Amino acid sequence: MRIREALPEDAPALLKMDRKVAGETNFLLITAEETDLIPLHQKEQLIGKFHGSADSLLLIAITKEEIVGCLSLEQKYGIRQKHVGEFEIAVLSAYWNMGIARRMMNHMMKWVVQNPSIRSMQLKVMANNEKAIRLFRKFGFREEGRQHRTVRLNNELYVDVITMGQWLKKSGTK
Ligand SMILES: CC(C)(COP(=O)(O)OP(=O)(O)OC[C@H]1O[C@@H](n2cnc3c(N)ncnc32)[C@H](O)[C@@H]1OP(=O)(O)O)[C@@H](O)C(=O)NCCC(=O)NCCS
Repeated sequence: MRIREALPEDAPALLKMDRKVAGETNFLLITAEETDLIPLHQKEQLIGKFHGSADSLLLIAITKEEIVGCLSLEQKYGIRQKHVGEFEIAVLSAYWNMGIARRMMNHMMKWVVQNPSIRSMQLKVMANNEKAIRLFRKFGFREEGRQHRTVRLNNELYVDVITMGQWLKKSGTK
């Protein structure tokens, strides 16, 4: 298993992984049905956008057979917010608890320290996703806010979303 940046030619395998993982967990904001609607050319364009940007990162964890994990860090739009990177992560359930998310996050943290633009990192996580929250806390993210009943899982079940973030201390700055 190795970790590298995604390339546009990874689009079919990445779409396959997106569909699979969205069907395996309720902790993602997008459903499997919605991922089915994403056309290949759109995914290729999206990967190309990440690849062409010095301030956004799309990582994949890949075995000989398939993509098993994905992490995106996307720079926010506009002069006033482009110092913020928004981050998401998912790993196929067959590969959980093997340290793949931790490896991808280590890679991201090294990258972000070298990046001159990104000063703040943010993410959204469902309040009941204890495992992910623990992982993010280990990497220095702290809870910054809570959005009540933002996710609707079914007719009866609404879940809060927690926003987490961290300000990056870079040499010579506060
Ligand atoms: C959250 C997720 C990305 C973690 O991926 P993973 O590869 O299984 O995570 P790792 O194996 O690297 O474990 C990372 C940490 O999770 C925690 N963890 C792992 N297994 C755990 C378990 N069974 N119970 C509780 N915590 C656990 C530990 O803190 C671990 O840190 P450690 O390696 O220092 O012990 C993965 O479960 C996933 O894709 N879930 C569905 C999508 C999701 O929730 N994404 C995050 C929302 S933004």
